[in-house]
Amino acid sequence: MEITLTAPLDMHLHLRDGDMLRLTAPLSADFAGAVIMPNLVPPVRTPEQLRAYAERIDDAMDGAPFMRLMTLFFAPQSEAQLLAAQATPEFFAYKLYPAGITTNSEGGLADMAQAEPTLRLMEELGIPLLVHGESHGFVLDREAEFLTVYRTLAERFPRLKLCMEHITTAAALQLLDEYPSLCATVTLQHLLITLDDVAGGALRPHLFCKPLAKRPEDREALLAAALGGHPRLFFGSDSAPHPRHKKECCGCAAGVFTAPLALPKLAELFAAHGAAERLQGFVSDNACRYYGLQPPPRRVTLCDTPMQVPPLYRGYGQSVVPMAAGECIGWSIKR
Ligand code: NCD
Ligand code: ZN
Repeated sequence: MEITLTAPLDMHLHLRDGDMLRLTAPLSADFAGAVIMPNLVPPVRTPEQLRAYAERIDDAMDGAPFMRLMTLFFAPQSEAQLLAAQATPEFFAYKLYPAGITTNSEGGLADMAQAEPTLRLMEELGIPLLVHGESHGFVLDREAEFLTVYRTLAERFPRLKLCMEHITTAAALQLLDEYPSLCATVTLQHLLITLDDVAGGALRPHLFCKPLAKRPEDREALLAAALGGHPRLFFGSDSAPHPRHKKECCGCAAGVFTAPLALPKLAELFAAHGAAERLQGFVSDNACRYYGLQPPPRRVTLCDTPMQVPPLYRGYGQSVVPMAAGECIGWSIKR
């Protein structure tokens, strides 16, 4: 069996910088494009930094036409600043992190109320806002608690393109259905695992990410929505590479590295559920429709020839352990 995808997109990707960028960028090159996260150290905050980072990504890619949809780390902005961002061809959206909520987000927003004048302007200008939606409450309740913030924003700014990033709960899907202006991304790991896989037995650091994987009923609801072709649910891997020594240690960094296996694993998952024809929408068409994107029309064919996931990706002095390291996946990319 085969599935041919046109212009698959990863709507939430961490490529990092320097040697890690050189190692990981080519591992996303089967995608036609991706939304690139700005949580570098220091974060990508200005159009100049954004353009320079886009160039470094181009250099790190092996020449494949790749639409990098660049994001700026959100802080309250003047209208002039927003217009300057919008005039930057590589710019796609602002990414808002509550301060300190995840990797490299210390400079994020401390008080949502401060964002409102900027969000009003972004709504008028048609600039999307991507949000890491977690509160600072009990770790398993953080996303659920943040839903009230999404609700307030959807009510106050009904035309703002607002993306609930990496949703992990059935409750987030309900909110998505309530407000047609909202969209959401979901990762590979949150379609596959629950908290039991992370910490129910021996601790598995390579499955540890923010937000944490949740309950079986949450995973089932996310999977049903993805397989069912929810029109405002997009694939966003949140592939977040960390050096091996920062994962296999006391004080494990949050982030699951999935980029090189994302498309084969999605193909396997959708085919196993008899939903192969829905994959195109999930990995490309839904996002293109919502945002009005026109990615390069590159085609990728997936086939049910097994793929052995390497135990480690290595290069440029970096080593990163992927999800499903050393395991066999039923599908692979046809070369
Ligand atoms: C991401 C990272 O490592 O940058 N980590 C994660 O656990 N998902 C940041 C993020 O998207 O939260
Ligand atoms: Zn992320």
